[in-house]
Amino acid sequence: MTQETAMLRVQRGGPDNEPTFDEFAVPYREGMSVLDALIWVRANTDSSLAIRYSCTNANTCKECMVKVDGKTVYACTARLGREPVTVGPLTNKRLLRDLVTDIVPPKEKLSLLLGRE
Ligand code: FES
Repeated sequence: MTQETAMLRVQRGGPDNEPTFDEFAVPYREGMSVLDALIWVRANTDSSLAIRYSCTNANTCKECMVKVDGKTVYACTARLGREPVTVGPLTNKRLLRDLVTDIVPPKEKLSLLLGRE
């Protein structure tokens, strides 16, 4: 039996350079999420891929938000199909690297700077 694969086209790069795209083939299993595939890529193909997540399911932490085929989704709840998908960072937040954007609310940043809770 041959293993089915899913194809991900992932935006790479930081805020100071033009984005590039890398393609990754990921072993596909029914019901897997886009986050499952990105974690697999980091563990097996390219550990330099920058992603952010915390809770891994059910949009509790909201740290995994990315664009999949141009739509804003939680990577942990977006189901991967057999069709290739393009994954990119949020476009309304400051890009840090690859799929990671600066999502800390402005008030929270000020608190961090001032050392307050
Ligand atoms: S990983 Fe927490 S909401 Fe997706």
